[in-house]
Order: sequence, then structure tokens, then C-alpha cells
Amino acid sequence: DSKRGSSSRGERSSPGSPPPRVLSVRRQLYDRDFPLYKQPVEVGHFSLDAKRRFFSDARQLRYYVQPERCPNFDLRDGYRDRYVKRDEAVKEGLDHLLRWILANRSKLRGTPDQGGTASPAFNRLDVDFVTWRGHLTKLLTTPYETREGWLLAVSQLGGTLYVSEVETEAARQSRESRTERHEEMMFWGYRFEQYCCADKPGGRPAPRGVVNTNEAYCTVVRTRLAGHRLLFSGEVDCRDESPLSPPAPGCYIELKTSAEICTPKQRSNFHRFKLLKWWAQSFLPAVPRIVAGFRDDNGVVVSVETFHTSKISQLIKSEPNCWKPTVCMNFCCDFLSFVKTVVAEDDPRVVYLFSWEPYRDVTYSVHRDSEYSFLPDWYVKEMTN
Ligand code: A3P
Ligand code: MG
Ligand code: MG
Repeated sequence: DSKRGSSSRGERSSPGSPPPRVLSVRRQLYDRDFPLYKQPVEVGHFSLDAKRRFFSDARQLRYYVQPERCPNFDLRDGYRDRYVKRDEAVKEGLDHLLRWILANRSKLRGTPDQGGTASPAFNRLDVDFVTWRGHLTKLLTTPYETREGWLLAVSQLGGTLYVSEVETEAARQSRESRTERHEEMMFWGYRFEQYCCADKPGGRPAPRGVVNTNEAYCTVVRTRLAGHRLLFSGEVDCRDESPLSPPAPGCYIELKTSAEICTPKQRSNFHRFKLLKWWAQSFLPAVPRIVAGFRDDNGVVVSVETFHTSKISQLIKSEPNCWKPTVCMNFCCDFLSFVKTVVAEDDPRVVYLFSWEPYRDVTYSVHRDSEYSFLPDWYVKEMTN
């Protein structure tokens, strides 16, 4: 049930010629003017509780409590006895976002301002792409990624393209063979959140509580990248509760941890690799601030620093051979154009599987009624009746 793409470079197809079979990832091709990226607008939110149950509300939203500059938070505390870890073997695909869409369809009819037709066609969403923010982050960083490839499954339904990640074989193997040290270090990021967030406005953090990574609050935003109307959702760590803070997503704060920086080499690596990922993740939904806890090798946070997402590209400019936001955004834009030229059938049973490995072109294969199908029957039924 599979046919493979091959040959050619990443150009757009001219009228009458077959669509290109591959897309190049070479940076020089994408180093041009920054594409139009409309100010992302929050159109909704949802929550996942301690048992990973969906709620179409903000019950899991947390409130930022500014830590001291040198807080000495112990991130190891609680790993053994107060940690409930989400089962990463359970693949949820786009399901939570699809549930939100079904509950909020009336909000998704386009306005002329958003490039939509405002047509009352009830079963059509006025967006070109529906996906997770994290999948778009991977696309943005692809021109600079040298270690991990990706697989993105795409199906079309009612004129909208749904993009859902498939775990690569390599990713599954490294997930299943993580060291105990790595498992513990993954906990540190969530533990830092617990030191910096309260459950209620005006509340205090509960550092003796349980860290449960099933819990999540997700924003749903709408925006446009050049000609691509996007609807995506991303997990948000917390918000600024000050009455002076802007409306969402401007009030949201991303929390991060990173190894403390002691040498020029470490600083350079932080700029070249970590800030790229942090920038891409927060730029997409227009989250303006990133609060970073720098920790030592024993998991003690030795300093806290705020990064403004919009200033990161200035911060890295002194770094030789560094990444460029325009390359990230133009690659993402051209990938989405590539997807539009490739996907022909409007059928949730057909999956176009886009595949990329470092130092290679993006290729694709087509699968009908395969293990890759990801749009659930309950969603297709509701959208096509
Ligand atoms: P850090 O971000 O401090 O590394 P996020 O920052 O996106 O809100 O994610 C919270 C934490 O989840 C991360 O903390 C990290 O511990 C863990 N995490 C997120 N993505 C991960 C990934 N791809 N692999 C391993 N751990 C991840
Ligand atoms: Mg998070
Ligand atoms: Mg975070």
C-alpha cells in the first residue's frame, strides 16, 4: 500500500508538471526575507487532568510565582516518591485537539480578515492545517537539526490537512533505553515548574506536592504563515496573573531548565542549540517570555533568568554560524506548500507519510487503510455528517 518519492530538488511544480517528490532542507535555500506570520490569536484552550482526561476549560492553568534570583531549588527532590509519569507508550495523536475542535466548531468559521471565505459550509473548518505546536517546532528547527529525524503523517478531511507525528524507530529505541540518570533529568524540568507555579491566582507554589505529567493546560491558536492558515495547540506552563498583563497568549510564560553556563564554549552551545529550540517553541504561539532556571550537575537551580522571545534573535547575532529565524520560518512555510502539492485525496483513510533524516531531503510515501491512519472514526463521523 505504499509508493515512494524519489529524485528531483525542492522546487515548486510548474503548471502541468508532476509535483516535486522531495524537499531539500539546505539552509541557503531558505535564507530570504522573513515570511508573513500573522499575530497568533488564542481561540480557546483545554485541560488534561491527572488521569489525562479532557476538559474544555482552563482548570489546569497555573499562575507564575517569581522565584528568587538564586533560589537553590533542589530539582531531585520528589523524583522517587512524588512523581507520576505520563505513559509515553500511549500515542494520543491529535485526539485532544480534535475533541476541542468538535466542541468549538462555531469559533472556526473563517472571517475575511483571516483569509477565510466566511462560507457557511458547516463541515469545513476555515483552516488549511491542524496540528500540535510541537510538530511545527520540529519543522522550524529542521534546517539545523543533525541528530534526530522525524515522521509526519498527513491526512486531508473536508479540505483541511491534519498533521500528526509518528514516532521514528530510532526515537522509540532511545525512549525505551533511557538511562536512570536521563529519566531523572527529564523530571527536573517539571520539578522546576512546581517551584514556580501556583494552582490558584494569588496562591503559593506547593513544592511538597506530587508532580504528575499527565496534567496539562493547552492553548489553541489561530494564525497564518504566508498563504497557510494554521490552527494549532500547545502546552502552556503558566500565566502572569497581574491585571496589567496582556490577554492570552501575551500573558503566558514558558519555563525551562538548562545546565549552568561556566565556559565560553557552553555559552556558545546554549545560544546555538538550546535557544533555537526555546525560540521556535515560544515564537509560534507568541508566548513572549521564557523563564530559565540554570542548574548544576546535582540538579540545584543556581540562577534564574528571563529571556524575551522577541529578543533572542538579537542575542545570538554575535555567535558565528548561528541559526536564523528566517531560515526556520521559510523552511516551515515551504514544507507546508510541499504538503499541499503532494496531498491529492480528501480521505481520512489515506495517509501521506513525510519522512526526514538529518543530511537528507524530505521524502514521502502514501498509505491507504494502514497502521498510520490517525483521524478517529468519532471525529470523521461528526465532521462529515
Ligand atoms: P525543560 O524544558 O526544562 O527541559 P516544556 O519545557 O516544553 O514545558 O517541557 C517540560 C519538561 O518536559 C522539560 O523540561 C523536560 O524535562 C521534559 N521534556 C519536554 N520535552 C521533552 C522531550 N522531547 N524529551 C524529554 N523530555 C522532555
Ligand atoms: Mg510545558
Ligand atoms: Mg517548559
